[in-house]
Amino acid sequence: MSFSELLLEWYNQNKRELPWRDIQDPYKIWLSEIMLQQTRTQQVYGYYQKFIQQWKTIQDLAEASEDEVFKAWEGLGYYSRVRNLHQTAKIITQNYNGNFPKTYQELQKLPGIGSYTSRAIASFAFGQPTVSLDGNGFRVITRVLDIDLPINISKNQKIIQILADELLQNAPSKNFNYALMDLGNLICKPQNPLCSLCPVQKVCLANQHKTQSLRPSKLKELKRTKDFLVFYWIENHHKIAISKKSQNYWKGLYTFPFEKLEPDSWYENTHQVIHEVKHVLTHKDLYIKILKTENTKNDQFEWVHKKEILKKPFPKPLQKFIEDFLKNI
Ligand code: ADE
Repeated sequence: MSFSELLLEWYNQNKRELPWRDIQDPYKIWLSEIMLQQTRTQQVYGYYQKFIQQWKTIQDLAEASEDEVFKAWEGLGYYSRVRNLHQTAKIITQNYNGNFPKTYQELQKLPGIGSYTSRAIASFAFGQPTVSLDGNGFRVITRVLDIDLPINISKNQKIIQILADELLQNAPSKNFNYALMDLGNLICKPQNPLCSLCPVQKVCLANQHKTQSLRPSKLKELKRTKDFLVFYWIENHHKIAISKKSQNYWKGLYTFPFEKLEPDSWYENTHQVIHEVKHVLTHKDLYIKILKTENTKNDQFEWVHKKEILKKPFPKPLQKFIEDFLKNI
């Protein structure tokens, strides 16, 4: 039997039941796929239900305010996803009459929709014959074909994509893609894959060559960087100064007025510190202090009543601080 036949036979017996599987509505498929990027299934459940209850169609989502959508996303992280989500909702509503394009080539033109997501939507919602390769998919395919190309190079990803599409043969792409994810998740794990339980063991070249632990190959990543941030908690007649971040990480979220410090000055001025925390992003460690201060000459902030402040979307470490702070007053 071929790879795709073995894979699909296994899938029919072992598939994971997930709320966003085997649904037709491209809006829900798209939403779940964006949420599932870099985020564990467990964490996505609640957010997914909340979104589809609050905004039943893509038009509803397009008409929501940016603050509302960010607020509903608060805590899921990687906030460029929610900005792109809202933009795509508006584009589909305005330029496509509310209907998703049906091919991955067209879908890829929309903000936040790359190779994986476009192919996932095109195959799950519209049956287009293409393989959607996420991290699991790249691992399974590079092992099955024993491909020694670093997968964090986009040229290599394109080559692996072509080879994966060939493996699809005439199989139904929707189930093939679900199956690839489940095999990667349940059997073909990053460390200690369960090869003795694997339905495609006989046709897996990495298994034959004993190279499983070397696949996928990756080029070494660049070094992580650090930011040292001081936020100012400025209170005036029960109102707090906040402003919307307009660039870099957390763009679109609100923060307190802040300064980025040089590492050398990080250990000075500790007496007014009311909170200190380290927060880890994908490529950066953030060292965060919150200082209480009275004076501000600056009028570029919004002033929001303490009790109203959590209606605005904040990044996770600040949101936690505010929640604790409000409990104690
Ligand atoms: N089923 C459909 N899309 C999925 C995803 N991104 N991760 C896990 N299971 C899925």
